Amino acid sequence: MGEVVRDVRLLLAGVGVPEPEIESRLIVQHALGLSVERLLVSMRDPAPEGADERISSLLSRRLKREPLPYITGRRDFFGRTFRVDRNVLVPRPETELLVERALEFAADVEGRDRPTGVGLRIADIGVGSGVLAITLALELPEAEVFGTDISGDALTVARRNGDALGAGRIVWLEGDLASPLTGRFDIVVSNPPYVPAGDIDLAEPELRYEPRLALDGGPDGLAVIRRLIAVLPGLLRADGATALIEADPRSAVPAANLAMKAMPGAYIAVLQDLAGQDRCIEIRIPNHPTSG
Ligand SMILES: C[S@@+](CC[C@H](N)C(=O)[O-])C[C@H]1O[C@@H](n2cnc3c(N)ncnc32)[C@H](O)[C@@H]1O
Repeated sequence: MGEVVRDVRLLLAGVGVPEPEIESRLIVQHALGLSVERLLVSMRDPAPEGADERISSLLSRRLKREPLPYITGRRDFFGRTFRVDRNVLVPRPETELLVERALEFAADVEGRDRPTGVGLRIADIGVGSGVLAITLALELPEAEVFGTDISGDALTVARRNGDALGAGRIVWLEGDLASPLTGRFDIVVSNPPYVPAGDIDLAEPELRYEPRLALDGGPDGLAVIRRLIAVLPGLLRADGATALIEADPRSAVPAANLAMKAMPGAYIAVLQDLAGQDRCIEIRIPNHPTSG
């Protein structure tokens, strides 16, 4: 099996796939239905009969730079496995930052380390596969959670993930940004489309497989963020709330400036991801009645 993994790795590296070492193992594992441990202990064994055919049908897609999660149909996020297909963005690890900060806010509001979300209303705008809404619903089991997307196909994926992972209580709504929502929210999270339109075709080839609607942030990457920030004052609780919006590193500071103009009384911060890149703007409306 070691030889098979090596051959796959060389082919992946040859077409410029990043991290060919990890992906070669994942492809072989998925094609042959093996766990990480099983593959490791089988490295010296010969490949089973039919392995080549099973591997090559997955590999040929990856060699064309189709993202691996579309080929395997799965992607892990915040310790859970989500189903993904070409109707939704492949969830990115940096988006976990929004979850972490939302949970910190909930902990502040409840005044305890492990909050339940009791009394909190949460909205995820542009749910895609549902990773943000579902993770928050599972981490904060008492919270009321709503998710919107303009794509009915994305909502179908999100709803399926919610049902499969035990977050069937989420209310999924189709429509533009916050338009399907009513009332105000304690926590708003959004990973909106934010890639500058001109960059999409120049970026890594994998991006071309993802829905344009999930990526295209208009000429400066801020087209959707600008509209989202404009509606936030009417969406956040005036007596204490937070909004966390993911952005391109180049547009995070301009986005924070837009938020300052739209919400002059709010605390606004630009947060960095694990790679040290500006990745998210945090808007805190102060004075939550129960926050310490
Ligand atoms: C970057 S993806 C994020 C998906 C998911 N939240 C994640 O982090 O993996 C953006 C999502 O926003 C949706 N979207 C784009 N424009 C929208 C709009 N005007 N209103 C609501 N959703 C929108 C897209 O369909 C897509 O699912």
